[in-house]
This record gives sequence, structure tokens and C-alpha cells, in this order.
Amino acid sequence: MKKGLKISLKVIGILILLLVLAGLGGWWYLKSKFLDFEDGYEQQTEFSELSVDGLSFLDRNGNGKLDIYEDRRQSIDARVEDLLSQMTVEEKIHLLKGSGISSAMGRTEPGEGISGAVGTIVPTPRLGIPTVYLSDGPAGLRIEPIREGEDRTFYCTAFPIGTLMASTWNTELVHQVGTAMGNEAMEYGIDVILGPGANIHRHPFCGRNFEYYSEDPVLTGYIGAAMINGIESQGIGTSVKHYVANNQETNRQNNDVIVSDRAMREIYLKGFELIVRESQPWTIMSSYNLVNGTQVAESRELLTDILRDEWGFEGLVMSDWFGGKDAAAMVRAGNDLLEPGTKFQWDALMDAYEEGSLSEEVIDVSARRILRLIVKSGKFEDFSFGNNPDLEAHAAITRQSAAEGMVLLKNEGVLPLDEARNMALLGVYSYDFIAGGTGSGDVNEAYSVSLEEGLRSTGLAREEGMESISFAVNEDAKEIYDLHKEANAEQFDKPETPLDAMFNPYLPPEISYSEQQMQQIEAESDAAIITLGRNSGEFTDRKEVDDFLLTQKEQDLIELACEVFQAAGKPVIVVLNVGGVIETASWKEKPDAILLAWQGGQEGGNSVADILSGKVNPSGKLPMTFPLKVSDHASHANFPLDPEPVSMLSMISQMGDKNDKKEKKELVRNVDFTEYEEGIYVGYRHFDKQGLEVSYPFGYGLSYTRFEMDSLKAQRSDEELQLRINVRNAGDRQGKEVIQVYISKPETGIDRPLQELKAFGKTRLLPPGASQSLSFSIPVSDLRYWDEESSRWVLEPGTYQIRVGASSRDIRQTVELDL
Ligand code: BGC
Repeated sequence: MKKGLKISLKVIGILILLLVLAGLGGWWYLKSKFLDFEDGYEQQTEFSELSVDGLSFLDRNGNGKLDIYEDRRQSIDARVEDLLSQMTVEEKIHLLKGSGISSAMGRTEPGEGISGAVGTIVPTPRLGIPTVYLSDGPAGLRIEPIREGEDRTFYCTAFPIGTLMASTWNTELVHQVGTAMGNEAMEYGIDVILGPGANIHRHPFCGRNFEYYSEDPVLTGYIGAAMINGIESQGIGTSVKHYVANNQETNRQNNDVIVSDRAMREIYLKGFELIVRESQPWTIMSSYNLVNGTQVAESRELLTDILRDEWGFEGLVMSDWFGGKDAAAMVRAGNDLLEPGTKFQWDALMDAYEEGSLSEEVIDVSARRILRLIVKSGKFEDFSFGNNPDLEAHAAITRQSAAEGMVLLKNEGVLPLDEARNMALLGVYSYDFIAGGTGSGDVNEAYSVSLEEGLRSTGLAREEGMESISFAVNEDAKEIYDLHKEANAEQFDKPETPLDAMFNPYLPPEISYSEQQMQQIEAESDAAIITLGRNSGEFTDRKEVDDFLLTQKEQDLIELACEVFQAAGKPVIVVLNVGGVIETASWKEKPDAILLAWQGGQEGGNSVADILSGKVNPSGKLPMTFPLKVSDHASHANFPLDPEPVSMLSMISQMGDKNDKKEKKELVRNVDFTEYEEGIYVGYRHFDKQGLEVSYPFGYGLSYTRFEMDSLKAQRSDEELQLRINVRNAGDRQGKEVIQVYISKPETGIDRPLQELKAFGKTRLLPPGASQSLSFSIPVSDLRYWDEESSRWVLEPGTYQIRVGASSRDIRQTVELDL
């Protein structure tokens, strides 16, 4: 062999060896620091039983006697104190961080753990403390549906997205959805659901707005509390996230939010404050971002002074996944639990304890909170879960709740569809309906009903006693879709895992129809439905072109369909299958009806069919403003407008990137820091104040019937405003109406919004002619503003106007009260 060749082979051999060694080293590093570092802390599952006073108990520490903490007749506090007194300081420190992210990465041994759960509270085997499981998220449980060695599946229900839930403005219904979600968690052995999301829609482009409720903190607070109370009624905890001001995904782990105290108090903290007041959740998740230079997960002011001392939050705070930088600083600030936990954090906490910067007292405070949760959880009572949720019943709740949160934006007398039977479904999303967003807000559901399937389901009985109707789907339009799908097969490949869905969101290309095709479709159908789809999720924000704005193909589709169908006297209905706000002003005049269907979960297509057929009378209302232009939002001056598509690399690099290593001049506006210059003027507060025209205002939504409001009465009794109003169904179909209570201070010495939502309610299903009287009580303290000078809430004395209506720009009754 030639010498040169020999040397080359040698070099290649060495390189391969180095690569293998690097690979092995990398794997060892990942495993020992992030995946599998728990050593001897394996959950103990075998206990002997103790019989005391005719009752049986588990002898968790095996000492042959009944300890206080083992005795379920004792109070939670007594049990926790007993446990704490028996733990070594090492065991307590061990409890402060999770066991890594193995399960979420599909690394669960067959028969062990809960595959797909994203985190745990670790077990303490010596005392028989069990593992507690945490999993996402806001639209339903996210666990692995397929498990190695099991011949059954573990699918979960994809409930409607958070934004749709808020659009119902129906706290009772949201409570019901929460109850179903909590029940599913209980059945699958998950102890804490990582949700709901309570961040404010500061700007329409935040990639995770679909997980959040609204641009308004009061709607956020009451809907969030209803969801939490529902979930927790099942003995399952929630983790309300992401506390606080996590309003963009771009560089979310390093973005420093520069914001006034007033905007924090009145807008960003307010929803969480109401949630704590109305539902006292088991846990709250601190957010990744910084606020005014301090990492939220390390902010004692936010996590202890405000959250606990002022609001009285009693639960524990956990970090967002890999959030926070300095483990000991996090615990000192009141971030009790570090999730999903790494070996670095464990070591850092031990070191901090040993060198004295983390005292046992501080460790005890957090350990105590964590133990409270463990003792409250079903796992501590050795509850054995059935793995058998009633998915059918939950699907029915999903269908009903999704229909109630869909918002009818326009209806020129064409809906409900009385005459039309043969429906021309246009656009790919009519056949490929989107159930929910991507990332941790995703759910692994067994099926998802498309609009096509929803319409084809026969026998859609309309209102009780009415004839049932069924639709046919136009076969020509369907064939065009089929051929388009075949020609673009690769882009129609659905991502197989949630991780895959996050990096390669399923957004197949839209169809272009020729005029001839459209005419042929029109000739055989009674109406056209165009579905426009959008999807987004973690790690990246949305953008204006081809996302907020319609794509050229979408505009052409609307144009052509309207031209051809309307010329023949047939209606065109646009269905928006989206997770966030899109532009509507430039094209809304064209179609005859527009239904904002949001992403309604796995029954979305059925819910839309229920509304189109008139089985359900729409009663959803917008939880945010639809502006004429996105730049009309005051926050638009300070928002990342050029987002990078998400990739594994960008995700990992964010985690390592630290602003404190950057020179000040290197910091990039809206990436490294974002100035909330608009202050409290978020959403309608801004549009109203500036007198801006909007496409659809906050609180807006149409019905198939008409409601009248009268007899508004208001009085102050002690520390509350008591209101009563009468609502009458003045139309000819049964329906529900949302009553929105705004408060305004016309004569004011301070800069304040023209009006602010302070309460809301929804009628029951009112038959034509029926009335209902609704009452509200609003704490007078909710009318205060945050005075920056004195750093406190202040009630401005004088006359307040109570404005009650059907949307923020449709006020029907007004009274004045002196306070
Ligand atoms: C998200 C959280 C989620 C967590 C666990 C994070 O990336 O921000 O909302 O709960 O992952 O999946």
C-alpha cells in the first residue's frame, strides 16, 4: 500500500475513533447531567400495612409504627411537619429539583413511570415518599399515547385552545372542561397539569397566544380561575404559567422586559392576582424572561413579596423547564422547585448549602411547600389510577365547549344554513382542520374531526323539535383537494411527534383554483366554505407577511369564490381555523359570513357543523381586538417582527445564551430586551383611548337571535358594587348572551383607560321571548389604579360610570355612582 494512502486511512481511523468517543462522551454527559442522575433515589413501592383502630395504613418508612405523616386522619400541616422533621438536609435539597427529562424524551422503561410526562417531584425512598408526576398542558394532557410492551393506547382528549375557552365568557362551562381535564389526569396518574396559561396577549404575534386567554386581565383571571377550580376539583394540581410578562417567544429565556410598575400591576400581574384570589392554585410556574433586569425565577419581589406576602398564595412555585440560571438564588427568591431538574442544579444547591449561602431555614420553606403538595396528591394515599378515562364523554364536552367559544364575526343573513345542502369545501384546511397549536400546548389525541367529516355526519338535529339536516360535501371540490394533496405529498406528511410538529409545523400549501374549476364546483353546490388555517407554538413568534396577512393564494381564493358563487346567488362562508388574530379588514366585505372557529380541539369540525346547521346558536365573543392593521397596536413599536424559524439549535443556544456576558451595546432591541413603552395601553385600552377604528372590537360576536338589555341597577353596599340587569331574547331563536360590565371614570385627574372590563356573565340558553336577570358584585377595590409615586393601589374619589353591554363598543345601559 502506498505510504500516502496508509496515512490517510490512519487519519480516517483516528477521526472515526474520535467521533465515536465524542459521541459516547456526549451521551454520557447528557445522561449523567440531564437524564439519569438520581442514583439511589428510586421510588419505593412495597410497604407493609399497619392496622390501627380498625383502620389500615401504609408503613412508609418501615419502622413498624404509625408515624404522624403516615396517618391520613392527621391534618396536612401536621403530616408535613412530621415528614420535614424526619428528613435529612440532603433529602430536602434533593426534593427541590426534579429528576430530569427522561420520560418526556421517551426514555421510560416499559412498565415504569408515565411515558411522556415532562417532569416529576422526586421520591424519597427512605421515608416512602412517592414520585409525583407533572405534565402539560393548557388544552389537555400531553403524555405518550403508545407505550412499549403495552397493547393498548393512552390517548388524551384535545380540548379547545385557551383562547377559545376565553371566547366562551362562560365560567361554568370552563369549569366543566377543567373537571374533565382533571379527571383525565387523575385516570392517567398525572398529579399536576402544567397549565393553564395566563399571560396577556400583549401583541397578536406572540407564538403562544393560543395557549393564553385574552388581552384583558379580568377575563384572563376569571376564566383561568374557573379552569383551575375545575381541574383541582378532581384532586389534581395545576401550574398556572408563565408568571409573569412572558409575552414573546423570541429569545424568551434571555429577554428582559422593561416595564413600568403600573403596567405590571394593572395588566400583567392582575390576571394572576385574580387567579390566586379566586382559585388558590396548587402551583404557579415562574417564567423564563427577566423583568427590569432580574430573572423572574430569581426575583424575590415577584415570587415572595407580591405573590405570597401581598396576595396570600399558599402553593409552590416551580420554574419553567430549565428556566432560571442560579439555582440557589432561585430557591432564596421563593422558586421552590427547579424543573425538570439537572445534576448541575443539584450540585449547585448542595454547594450553596455547604458554603452557607443557602441556609437550612430557606431550604425548609421550599421543602415544606413541596411536601404539602405531595401529601395532598392522590399518590400519597396510594391511589391506584385506572388508566381508563371516559374519552367519549370528554369528546362530547369538547364539542359543546368549542361550539360555544366560536365567534360569528359576520352574517349577512346566510347562517344558519337553512337551504344549502351541498357544500363546496374550499382550501386545504376544510379537509385538514387544525385541532390546536404546537409545542407543549399540543395534545396526543386519538383523532381529530375535520370540517369535511363534521359536515358529512348526518342527522345534525337542530334545535330540539326541529327537523334534522345533513350536508353533502361537493365531490368536485374534494377531488381537487385530493389531487393537490397527491401532488404535494411530502408537505402533507403529518409530523409524527410533538417535537417534530414544533420544528416542522403542519402547514400544507394552499390550493389554487382556476376559474373553470370554481364554476364547475359552483354549478353543483349550494354554498361555499373557505377555511383559512394558521398554526404556531413555542420558541417562535408569528410574523406579518403570509401569517397575520392573508397569503396571495388565500386572497385569490376568496376573490374568486365570492365572484363566482355570489353571481349565482349562493353564499360564501369563511371559517377561520386559527390560533391567533389575523388581518380581516381588507377582505371582510367580500364573503357573506365569517366564523372564527379558533382551534377547537379534536371535535372542531363537528362544532363548526353544529353552528353552521343552527344546532348551536353562536354565543362566543372576542377576548381581544381585531385591529385594522397590526401596527395600530401600541405594542407594535416594541415587538420582535423578524422571528427566526424554530430549530433544535436555536432552542439549545437560547438556553446557554446569557445577556450578562454581553456588552450593553451588543444587546439587541426586542430580542435581548423589550421596552413596554405602551404601559397599560394594551388591546382595547389603547384603541379606545386613541379613538381608533378597529375591524372587530374586544367583546364582539354575533348571534342568530337578538338580545335586549334593560333595568340596570347599581348600588354600593359596603366594599362591593352590586349590579343587576335584565336580558331578554328579543329574536326568534334560542340563544345565550354575554353581559360585559365596563367601568369608566369620565372626570379623572390621572391618565387612565376610557373603560375597563370589571365583570362579565352569560345567560342560560334563553328561548325566544324569555328574560333573565343577572347580578354582579364587584369589589370596590377592583376599581383602584396603581399609583407609582406611593407604590400602592389608590381609589380615585368621584363619579364612576358603569357601562353594561354586549361588546366594548356596544354599550347598552349606563348608570353613574359616586364612590
Ligand atoms: C414551556 C412550558 C411547559 C414546559 C414543559 C416549556 O418549554 O414553556 O409551558 O410546561 O416546557 O413541557
